Amino acid sequence: MSNESVQLIYPSDEIVKNAAVSGMDAYRALCAEAEADYEGFWAKRAREFITWKTPFTQTLDESNAPFFKWFADGKLNVSYNCLDRNVEAGLGDKVAIIFEADNGEVTKVTYKELLAKVCKMANLLRSKGVKKGDRVVIYLPMTIEGIVAMQACARIGAPHSIVFGGFSAQSLRDRINDAGAVMLITSDGQFRGGKAIPLKPIADEAFSMGGCESVKNVIVFKRTGGDVNMVAGRDEWLHDGLANQPETCEPEWVEAEHPLFLLYTSGSTGKPKGVQHSTGGYLLHAIMTMKWTFDIKPTDTFWCTADIGWVTGHTYITYGPLACGATEIVFEGVPTYPDAGRFWKMIQDHKATIFYTAPTAIRSLIKAADSNAAVHPKSYDLSSLRILGSVGEPINPAAWQWYYDNVGGGRCPIVDTFWQTETGGHMITPLPGATPLVPGSCTLPFPGIQFAVVDETGADLPWGQGGILVCKKPWPSMIRTIWGDPDRFVKSYYPADFQGKYYLAGDGAIRDADTGYFTITGRIDDVLNVSGHRMGTMEIESALVANPLVAEAAVVGRPDDLTGEAIVAFVVLKGARPTDPEAAKKIIKELSDWVGKEIGPIAKPKDIRFGDNLPKTRSGKIMRRLLRGLAKGEELTQDTSTLENPAILEQLKG
Ligand code: PRX
Repeated sequence: MSNESVQLIYPSDEIVKNAAVSGMDAYRALCAEAEADYEGFWAKRAREFITWKTPFTQTLDESNAPFFKWFADGKLNVSYNCLDRNVEAGLGDKVAIIFEADNGEVTKVTYKELLAKVCKMANLLRSKGVKKGDRVVIYLPMTIEGIVAMQACARIGAPHSIVFGGFSAQSLRDRINDAGAVMLITSDGQFRGGKAIPLKPIADEAFSMGGCESVKNVIVFKRTGGDVNMVAGRDEWLHDGLANQPETCEPEWVEAEHPLFLLYTSGSTGKPKGVQHSTGGYLLHAIMTMKWTFDIKPTDTFWCTADIGWVTGHTYITYGPLACGATEIVFEGVPTYPDAGRFWKMIQDHKATIFYTAPTAIRSLIKAADSNAAVHPKSYDLSSLRILGSVGEPINPAAWQWYYDNVGGGRCPIVDTFWQTETGGHMITPLPGATPLVPGSCTLPFPGIQFAVVDETGADLPWGQGGILVCKKPWPSMIRTIWGDPDRFVKSYYPADFQGKYYLAGDGAIRDADTGYFTITGRIDDVLNVSGHRMGTMEIESALVANPLVAEAAVVGRPDDLTGEAIVAFVVLKGARPTDPEAAKKIIKELSDWVGKEIGPIAKPKDIRFGDNLPKTRSGKIMRRLLRGLAKGEELTQDTSTLENPAILEQLKG
């Protein structure tokens, strides 16, 4: 981006005038405030935006860095902040959730009703012996009950760990085991795209693998009415359990550092890690980003299309909007059912004002709209919208422009929010009433966040030069540790390369030479981003080599127009390499299904290729750079002289 090519897109006067952060001067003033008094900047908002049971006196404790503590002597409860205080403020009859089911049925829940539901669920958990600090795994679809379950855990101080409903029995088992959960909350099944998909049977399979012995109770929500096997003494229907529970429940007042949740995410090595988040700092950033990035107002209807199985669903469905007393839309289904106009119809029907989704969804809906005018956003009344958001992966400028023109009608700023499971909330993002936009750039850090682009030694790089994205200062909503593995936490995020001083995001970035705007250039580790879902290449490789047919496997990513990145697997079989295309097809299907069963359908490779061996150096190291080139279909111009067995490249060309 040089000055001639950068076309800044400015927010309208109307948006600027009414925004919480109004104009670039206001943004700069906030950054300067944080610069001048870092702790004071956060403490001021923590006092203003959170209701504390016991106010904190210390803001940041760096004595055991990088295990930072924020507001450590303060006490609070997140569920109280999301529900009770809104009811106390007179919002009891305001709609908190507009739930639209897969089949289009709409259910509205007010703040008062939601509070009663959460209290009943919290009482049920307590009646089963769940107490402060106990972990509860939630394996539920997108439903009101999913949000209620999370809030109920928060109410009693039991950290939850959500496992996305698309994950396999093996993944569920591993997460239950690692977290040492005492309870599982699941459902008989889930509705997606008009189909009922079983969930409880997958949980049963997870239990049958062994390693889930810590779980004493399984609560089952009846959603689809599918066949369910209940284990006497352990499993109970949610409706039975809730039947006689009181509608009030005293919150557990916890220390600000008490873990609110664990959320497993993929890293570059080994098994997924349990990212541990705090209570006070996490809540603060959820609220601040709702206010400043989304400019949330009492009149807004907010819609984040994520699933509660991912961090976006935690911060921008379960916690952020409710902590701000907003009305939000929660959607059970998929964007393409009954047709690809579903999102646009829902925005029209519910008069959504803020809409937050992922680039992959936009790209697939562009494709659909191109071939069918009836599902084009222009066929719907989207005039209620005022702000659009994007999250999870880079948004290519063409998709950005289409989103801006066709969904936002050229009047809604797009906040391209860069953040991670580990960061808890937005890190680099435009503020809608301040930041001039550039398609494809997440622009500038959120006020108070100190991101920089550095080289391998940690030295700052000049604008215009690509490098490693780091955060120079701790922030309130940051990851506290990896559950049960503090060493891995330090190694992964505070590596010795930067003297243990900088948070390593794992992404590369470049700042525009003129504007200083950040563009994320992609992961610098072996993590792939497929449709906004994070996948470790090693995780997929481990799944493949666990198949009895496979001797060795290497997995790389390749750019994909629709999903951002696609998974390509290079496999060496124990038996002979199939030369007959039909035989190869059969094995490819078997391996793909296997990965789906081991991890989940999202991890299925798009392309599987066979070789007699993998390209390795003479010392036996797999040459991944070469594989990435092969995956893309590039002509090999790289030096292959260190390659032990150049002949196999031909086989792997695909
Ligand atoms: O590579 C970045 C990409 O998604 C990664 C984080 O994934 P996850 O922890 O699953 O959280 C996703 C939802 C916050 C990052 O390391 N990423 C996320 N948002 C963006 C992005 N890449 C470019 N632009 C974004 N806006």
